[in-house]
Amino acid sequence: MRKLQCTLVLLVASCAHQGLVPATPYGRSADLNSSYEAKGAGGVAVATQGRYATDAAFEILRRGGNIVDAAVAVSMVQAVERPHSTGLGGGGFVLWGKKTAAGGKVEAWDFRERAPLAAHSKMFIDLKSGKAVPELSRYGRLASGVPGMVAGLYEFHRANGKLPWKELLSPAIRLAQDGFEVNPELASALEGKSDILGANAAARAIFFHPREPRVLKEGERLVQSDLASTLKVIAGEGKDTFYKGSIAKKILEEARLSRLLITRSDLHRYKVKLRPVLQSEFRGSTIYSMPPPSSGGVHLLQILNTVERAPLEKWGILDSRSVHLVASAMQQAFADRAQFLGDPDFVKVPVAELISKEYAYSVQEKIPLDRARPVSEVRAAPFRAPVESDDTIHFSIMDSEGNAVSSTQTINGHFGSGIVVRGTGILLNNEMDDFAASLSGANLFGAVASSRANFVEPGKTPLSSMSPTLVEKEGRFVMALGSPSGTRILTCVTQVLLNRLVFGLSPAQSVAQIRYHQQWQPDQIQVDEPGFPAELKGRLEKLGHKVDTTNLGCRVQLVERDTESSSLTAVSDIRAEGSARVER
Ligand code: DON
Repeated sequence: MRKLQCTLVLLVASCAHQGLVPATPYGRSADLNSSYEAKGAGGVAVATQGRYATDAAFEILRRGGNIVDAAVAVSMVQAVERPHSTGLGGGGFVLWGKKTAAGGKVEAWDFRERAPLAAHSKMFIDLKSGKAVPELSRYGRLASGVPGMVAGLYEFHRANGKLPWKELLSPAIRLAQDGFEVNPELASALEGKSDILGANAAARAIFFHPREPRVLKEGERLVQSDLASTLKVIAGEGKDTFYKGSIAKKILEEARLSRLLITRSDLHRYKVKLRPVLQSEFRGSTIYSMPPPSSGGVHLLQILNTVERAPLEKWGILDSRSVHLVASAMQQAFADRAQFLGDPDFVKVPVAELISKEYAYSVQEKIPLDRARPVSEVRAAPFRAPVESDDTIHFSIMDSEGNAVSSTQTINGHFGSGIVVRGTGILLNNEMDDFAASLSGANLFGAVASSRANFVEPGKTPLSSMSPTLVEKEGRFVMALGSPSGTRILTCVTQVLLNRLVFGLSPAQSVAQIRYHQQWQPDQIQVDEPGFPAELKGRLEKLGHKVDTTNLGCRVQLVERDTESSSLTAVSDIRAEGSARVER
């Protein structure tokens, strides 16, 4: 769904004339002053996937909060305004960068879902056929991991926030209580999952019309009273209510009635983890990104390193040589992902090797410039194998001092498992689908496994592609960005970095630019529709690439700080709902 109007208030930006400069595949000017970009001389830049979320960020900042407080408020509001994408029943990652006179630090917070203790590697396999049954990991009682959202936001705030926790939840409580008009994107998600939502009485009570047997439509009001009450309890009691107190009790009652795997000890033992941040130099910038259990940071850096020495800017951005090389680097990254990536608490992931310049340059040398490599030719790296055996949100916030938050949060597919914990308004995730159910199947995003590294094990974290990323130049953070959309996240974020740091496009053009994706299997370059030049497609096909046109689904949220003037820019992807704003 594209942004068709300029209703989102921007302090500095005005509305673009649609189609005036059809510089983007979306028929909109990438040259700015439009509803998806804002600039300002200082203050704070916020880019989120919802208008209420951006409002909430500034409400909290005006009350004296810092950007960590704003990030918590945004997360809670997105849980209300994008219930198909994220929520208290899900989890996520935050990359937080702080700059002080004394120096700086970056922290990677992992509050992703964990497999319940009763989970095991054969749980999604049909015993008769021996094959994985995708529905089992996507919907219903087996699909949910133990949620981490509440613990993650609570602890992130406890360590780095300023205002009292309670205050941060008030915008979300208000929105859940008062309701809001269903926007086109939410309406289409509701329509797409009406059968799943209709099958669960608690979900039906929230998302269906009160008198008619159908989901709410665009323009109708979505009120989430149970969720408002749950948020109030969490505001008052903190995270413990979710894992040990009255909300935990309701989750366990739901587990009993719906035969979920989640138990009391799963909730009790949930732990937020601080992970070692990934870091690499790239053409004069330092890129920070999310380590395992995300595959995002590893492969984003791997792809950048692989193409670093090529004369991309000389070739041009939509030149077949550039697209061929970048897509081939993606192909190798996904072959490595299938082999090596998994929860680092369970499997040894050769992170340092995968993000090393040495490995990347050796891959570059193996990529022929005159032909595409078939899947069979692209083998995972020869590192010693470890001995051990459609939705999400992203937001980015940066202040003029260069403190930055980049966070991706999710319940995985639209409306997660489709199960609402009765009486709470909490939709449970279907993150168990991010595990590999077998060596032959593929998950919701077509990701495959060549090893057991990402097989289900009790307490293990499913592999993610979420890639919250920060960029530092001359000792200051200059960019914070990320995106939803499964395996495509890491290639979309990589391309925005290339557009900005190599091809020199403006922030808005970098986000609006057409994107492509290669994930080893299926053996094809998927190009974001519409507008991929036919001539380029022809050239790539001549090189032996299969080119498929599809909607990649990425919605990049980017904020930037200019090193010289300290002015700020916020860009919310032109392709969908969102709101970018810079305010003092
Ligand atoms: O962690 C992951 O990689 C996925 N669960 C993210 C899901 C997602 O981005 C869906 N978005 N459209």
